[in-house]
Amino acid sequence: MTRLLATRGLQAFYGDAQALFGIDFELAKGELVAIIGANGAGKSTFLKCLSGLVRAPRTAIEFKGEAIGGMPAGEIVRRGLALVPEGRRLFPSLSVEENLLMGGLTQRPGPWNLPRLYALFPILAEKRQLPATSLSGGQQQMVALGRALMSNPEVLLCDELSLGLAPIVIREIYAAMPAITGEGMTVVIVEQDVTMAQRVSQRIYCLQEGRVSLQGRSDAFTREQISQAYFGL
Ligand SMILES: Nc1ncnc2c1ncn2[C@@H]1O[C@H](COP(=O)(O)OP(=O)(O)O)[C@@H](O)[C@H]1O
Ligand SMILES: [Mg+2]
Repeated sequence: MTRLLATRGLQAFYGDAQALFGIDFELAKGELVAIIGANGAGKSTFLKCLSGLVRAPRTAIEFKGEAIGGMPAGEIVRRGLALVPEGRRLFPSLSVEENLLMGGLTQRPGPWNLPRLYALFPILAEKRQLPATSLSGGQQQMVALGRALMSNPEVLLCDELSLGLAPIVIREIYAAMPAITGEGMTVVIVEQDVTMAQRVSQRIYCLQEGRVSLQGRSDAFTREQISQAYFGL
């Protein structure tokens, strides 16, 4: 197992308020790891630290053997970490295709380009000229995922892909994962749907109030162990 990404004792703050209290995390090349936890546990903050959107100490985050904590977000994308942000954050004045092309501006080489994405999500090809925000929630999530893939990352960080979507749409989005990991992509998903998180991932981390409350193989835990780690009950 080649270690691709790791955090050591990662702490994060919003002003005086501490959100992460020493997160130790490891990711090997080709893994799909899920991060679960209740609202406010620190999941988004963790992904934002990895992506350079929330400040982190330089040596607390290591990517391919280099300390990347606190680097500008653009530099981190160029190095191969891409975030699908919570709430999608599409450019509302741009079409579906223009949104996707924004992701490709980093010009990293790799398998993902417009034709590949349209083959993965044919509905996006049909709607390519429409304003991205006129699409359904599930289709907008496909655009957000596609935009991140267009940067040909080595690690794809997904923050709550399933948020606000119907179960059938959630399944449709996750059905794309094998095609994505099949290229050797390494993926981190933040997911509140614990059943889905356990089903699609090999390993799981549960965060509780800014700390790791449980971690290990996704199939190693009972519902009770997970609820305990999730809610601290
Ligand atoms: N921009 C912000 N300013 C201040 N506090 C924040 C901000 N974003 C998140 N927080 C706080 O940090 C903690 C973790 O939040 P977050 O990472 O969004 O959790 P999660 O994604 O697990 O729901 C929460 O207590 C939240 O209120
Ligand atoms: Mg969040």
